[in-house]
Parts: sequence; C-alpha cells; structure tokens
Amino acid sequence: MTHHPTSHATAPVVARLAFLVLAPLVAACGARPVHVERAAIALDVAGAPAALYLSLLAEDAIADSIEEIWTDAGVATLQTARPHRMTDGPADLASLMAPVAGVPIDAQGAARLAPGGYTALLSTLRRPLAEGDSVTVQVRLARGRRAEVRVPVLPYEALEAALLTPAERAEVAGDGDPDAAEGGRLFRANGCASCHGAEGHGDGPVGRTLRPPPRDFRVVSAFKGGTDAARIARTLAAGMPGGGAMPLYAHLTNHERAAIARYLISLRTPDSLQRTTP
Ligand code: HEC
Repeated sequence: MTHHPTSHATAPVVARLAFLVLAPLVAACGARPVHVERAAIALDVAGAPAALYLSLLAEDAIADSIEEIWTDAGVATLQTARPHRMTDGPADLASLMAPVAGVPIDAQGAARLAPGGYTALLSTLRRPLAEGDSVTVQVRLARGRRAEVRVPVLPYEALEAALLTPAERAEVAGDGDPDAAEGGRLFRANGCASCHGAEGHGDGPVGRTLRPPPRDFRVVSAFKGGTDAARIARTLAAGMPGGGAMPLYAHLTNHERAAIARYLISLRTPDSLQRTTP
C-alpha cells in the first residue's frame, strides 16, 4: 500500500489553508469592499431639487469616511441638517443645511445618510427626475474605496420603509392612528410655538421678526405647500417649496408628522375655511 492517495488529498487542503491565512492579509492592505445597503432619493428637499440618503457598510473597521458622492443625475454635496432649537434666533435660520467635508464611518464599519442627519443634496440636476426613476450613484471613500448602486427616486413618505431596518421601522411605527391630541403635544414639544404662537396664530416671539412671517394656521389660503394632512406632513419633513425660514422636521417620524398635521387642521375655524373659497 502506498501513501499516494493521502498525499494527493493534502494538496487542496494546503491550498485552502493558505487561502484562509492569506485572504485577511490581502484585505488588510485596503482591498475589502464596502456595500451600500439601503438607499433612496426624494425630490424637493430643503429647497433643493433632490436629496440622497443611504446606509453604507464597510467589511472592516479601518478608520475611513465618505468623501464624495457622484451621481449621473447631478452634483451631490454632503450636508448635515441643522435641527431647530428653541434658542435659535432668526440669524441661525439662514441655512437649514450646512456643508460637511465628509461623513465618518463608525467603529462598526457603518455610515448613514438619513433625513434629519447627513444628506447628499443635489442642488442642480443634469436631467429632470420623477418618482419611479433611478439614478446611478457612486460613493467614494477617503481611502480610495468605492461602491456603485442604482438608487430609486421615491415619494418622501416611502423613505422610512426604504431606509430603515425592519426593527427600526417597528420602533417608529407609532401606536394606532396619528391623532390631533398627540399632534398638539408634539407641536408644543418641538418649539413650533416660538414662531407660530401657542395657538398657532402666527404670532410667536421669534416669528414676529421673520419675513415671510410664520403661517397663521387658520388662514388656509396662505398655505404654499398644500393644505391636506399629507401635504402638511411633507412640508414638515422636507421644508417649504423654494426654501424659507420654516425649519425641517425631518428627524420626526412619519407617524409624528401626520399627527402634527391633524392638529394644525383641527385649529381651522368655519371662518378660515371660508377664506379659502375664491
Ligand atoms: C423658526 C421659526 C419657525 C418654527 C420653529 C416653525 N415654523 Fe413653521 N413656518 C415658519 C415660517 C417663517 C413659515 C412661512 C415660510 C414661508 O412662507 O416661506 C412657516 C410655515 C409653516 C407652515 C406652512 C406651510 C405652507 O404650506 O405654507 C406649516 C404647516 C408650518 N410652518 C408648521 C410648523 C410646525 C408644525 C412647526 C413645529 C414642528 C413649525 N412650523 C416650526 C417658521 C417656523
């Protein structure tokens, strides 16, 4: 009996062992890939024609950052949303978004662009975009790695479903139907009254200094972005058409914005409804 069969069998085993040892070494030289996990584009955000959001996962935890985002639909600039604080004066409202040099990748290898946080704003479009279109997006990291994906253009209300994990979606779903009472609590908790006044009459202390002035929610005809609950919720999320001093409430959930919209509608009087009829 010879040992030939055994020695033949060891060759692939050695090759496999060599692969197991070498693969991580090769990867440590910076070759490990990055993936875009969830991504979506929404139209008309913060006065810009489109905004891109995504989650990125790097297969290692090397310190790195998203340095640039290229799209075939137009130039994207990395920005961060500046949530409104009660202490902000009118001077701080000049810009709802502020440019950033990069988006850091955390210790878990993850980075996220999401409503209310880091955003890639497309401030000029090379071609018109509509919901249902898709855009080629390339994410470039500071250490040279890249990931390319096709990203759908979605209605703003669909972003939660597209960008959050199932566990996160369950967390933001909210209990039952959004109602006006919950919306009233959120109106007070989010500083709306500082501009719009405690009763929503457009007469808050900060609001008095703003031009155009904050909306008096009883004057339905003055609304620029639509008066039904869905349009109001969208205005809260993505801002006024063409910008303006109204802050973005992109960090709230769909459920919370829908509740606030119901509350604002509940402030209307028979007189305010008459004012809309031409
Ligand atoms: C810093 C001041 C400020 C704060 C805080 C603020 N708003 Fe406004 N809001 C404005 C101004 C100013 C306008 C009018 C902008 C314009 O006409 O361009 C406006 C407009 C609106 C509109 C009218 C949209 C339309 O279609 O015309 C709604 C609805 C609204 N705000 C709701 C809210 C709610 C709800 C909150 C709190 C979650 C809030 N605002 C917080 C200043 C503010």
